[in-house]
Amino acid sequence: MSEAVINNAFYDDLDERWYNDDGHIIALLKAESRLKTVYVREIFARVKLPSDAKILDVACGAGLISNKLATFGYEIHGIDQSVSSIEVAKRHAPSGSNVNYLAGDAFDLPYPDASFDVVMLLDFLEHVEEPGKAILEASRVLKPGGTLVYYTFNRTFIAGLLAVRAVEFIARDCPKNFHLLRMFIKPSELKVMLKKSSIDHQEFRGIRPVIFHKPFFASLLKRKVHKGFDFVFTSNLKLGYMGFGQKI
Ligand SMILES: C[S@@+](CC[C@H](N)C(=O)[O-])C[C@H]1O[C@@H](n2cnc3c(N)ncnc32)[C@H](O)[C@@H]1O
Repeated sequence: MSEAVINNAFYDDLDERWYNDDGHIIALLKAESRLKTVYVREIFARVKLPSDAKILDVACGAGLISNKLATFGYEIHGIDQSVSSIEVAKRHAPSGSNVNYLAGDAFDLPYPDASFDVVMLLDFLEHVEEPGKAILEASRVLKPGGTLVYYTFNRTFIAGLLAVRAVEFIARDCPKNFHLLRMFIKPSELKVMLKKSSIDHQEFRGIRPVIFHKPFFASLLKRKVHKGFDFVFTSNLKLGYMGFGQKI
């Protein structure tokens, strides 16, 4: 039997649901993006990122995170292979911000070497068969001393249960092969990929859903994402995790 293939075409059909459909499966990503943005900003403060820094969001989707960061004055570039998602990102760009969206491939970035202060790979590495190659390409466009930020899922039993099975169960509209456990990445594997791309890894930060509160159970019972569904940081890396490293 041939191996299941990840469903990345799903993003093409979302249109305004990226931002506006709170019961849809994509609302989980939207809820998570609030916490991701908090951590990204914490990293920026720690590395003393200047307010005019150049940031690239690889596989930016509809710009849920880029459009938030754009309000802080950075020069933001977002690229995604989903042409329709890029159109949504452009429509939601804050007025007067310096944000530039482009449809394109993360494996062939149309930017010169060493052109960004920060490159972000958020919720993307587990969507491609060769994450190491995507990291290598991201590292190519990162300036020496620049910061690479990522978010992905660990390949564990609990991640299979929550990020694959529970997500498929909660959301009736969840497409087949939205996530595939085999494509999740262990933190030790990610560290090796980063090292091969000349990224000096700095730290991990776990993220998990808030479980013992009404929105989690209501989502399971009604099989629809509850508008209060939320995420928190955790030291446990068994589910989703973020982190960052610096280009040597
Ligand atoms: C789960 S979404 C994450 C979107 C965004 N980073 C966020 O956190 O909101 C995964 C994104 O990866 C994009 N993607 C998958 N393969 C890609 C590739 N080879 N090049 C560019 N984008 C890709 C999809 O189109 C989709 O928008």
